[in-house]
Amino acid sequence: MKHSTKVGIIGAGPAGLTLALLLQRKGIDCTILENRSRQYVESRVRAGLLEQNTVDLIRELGASERLDKEGLEHHGVYLSFNGVRQRVPFKELTGGRCITIYGQQEVVKDLIQANLDRGIEIVFEAHAKHIEGIETDNPSIFYQHNGEEHELTCDFVAGCDGYHGIGRQHLPKETYNEFRIEYPFSWLGILANVAPSSDELIYAYHERGFALHSLRSETVSRLYIQVDNDDTVDNWSDEKIWEELSIRLGTEGWNLQSGPIFEKSITPMRSFMIDNMQHGRLFLAGDAAHIVPPTGGKGLNLAVADIRFLASALTNWYENQDDSLLQSYSQDCLRRIWRAQDFSNFMTYLFHKQAPHGSFENLLQKSKFDYIGISKAQATTIAENYVGLKEI
Ligand code: FAD
Ligand code: DHB
Repeated sequence: MKHSTKVGIIGAGPAGLTLALLLQRKGIDCTILENRSRQYVESRVRAGLLEQNTVDLIRELGASERLDKEGLEHHGVYLSFNGVRQRVPFKELTGGRCITIYGQQEVVKDLIQANLDRGIEIVFEAHAKHIEGIETDNPSIFYQHNGEEHELTCDFVAGCDGYHGIGRQHLPKETYNEFRIEYPFSWLGILANVAPSSDELIYAYHERGFALHSLRSETVSRLYIQVDNDDTVDNWSDEKIWEELSIRLGTEGWNLQSGPIFEKSITPMRSFMIDNMQHGRLFLAGDAAHIVPPTGGKGLNLAVADIRFLASALTNWYENQDDSLLQSYSQDCLRRIWRAQDFSNFMTYLFHKQAPHGSFENLLQKSKFDYIGISKAQATTIAENYVGLKEI
């Protein structure tokens, strides 16, 4: 079956869903093709930290009703090194900016609802198989849906289909360089029905490994611990997880409350990017073009930041027949991507156990941690990167 639209979007993650809403506001038709079912994408547990820029965009799109009610604004973060804890305050270091804790699956639910309310077509369980004609004015996406073959012809294809998607595979290899670090550790993440034990996030180095205390609401906590790459959730009983978290996050006079765990999964850690995100009429955004290790909480936020550029570029093309922003799309995104890559890598090396406790490398880690408490300049560097730079 043949269909047509102006912008064919592959992927109903944060990138694809925000792009569709921004284009719809400008009267530019689009269709989203999503591999999975609605129920699956709405319940996929992932990130939880929204930068101010991301919250501002969701508000601008009129999709923030629940976020405004249920999102938790944080004005600082605790950093811990073997039981010594310090706080980095955002307000005075960043001119009043903050982060908001609100689960990615809630963001996705809100954005899907907003898309459907505005009449944007999302085809769930549509498996994009290949893209043709990206060097012509009418590229097509070929996909399968309900056992039938379909072709979606469009002016532009937006590959918002994540790290394992097909978008990046259609970018000619000679047009980009690829950069990658695979880290020798993973995160075991849990969700638990227990009130958070801290009012703000805690990132902790411990000689037994990294731990992070985050939250989702006043009754649900989200926590992570560093595990080996070949570890499995079966090795981690609830009791063992709480014991380990309590040791790694511990500091004098503070107790970690435990409770029933209802979700456990292990995520590998990688840094990945390509230095060109477009070719002809194909444009990549979000995880399709870059992955950061989650230690800086940047993945979702970077995806949305790409989309701001892509939506402006497409709008400029449709409204003014001007392709200059399309031409500069990759370069415009890459400034922020490189910054987020560096910050995520810095936070990862600062808080994970990589070298024996007491080794030279480990004492350098400790010195970097201590420096945050000594130097307002260093604390500011962390705070402004963490809440997200406004200017780039
Ligand atoms: P995605 O959210 O991946 O969306 C891409 C969509 O495309 C998916 O819905 C997928 O089903 C669809 N798709 C793929 N291929 C096709 C196809 N062929 N046809 C049709 N549809 C297709 N970030 C953090 O900041 N903190 C975290 O704790 C964190 N945890 C994470 C845990 C996991 C397991 C993963 C995978 C990521 C995590 N991230 C985290 C990163 C963050 O969730 C991503 O950066 C964010 O989802 C990127 O959004 P996106 O829209 O680019 O991609
Ligand atoms: C969360 C995840 C992160 O990777 C992070 O850096 C902070 C918070 C979270 O899931 O809440």
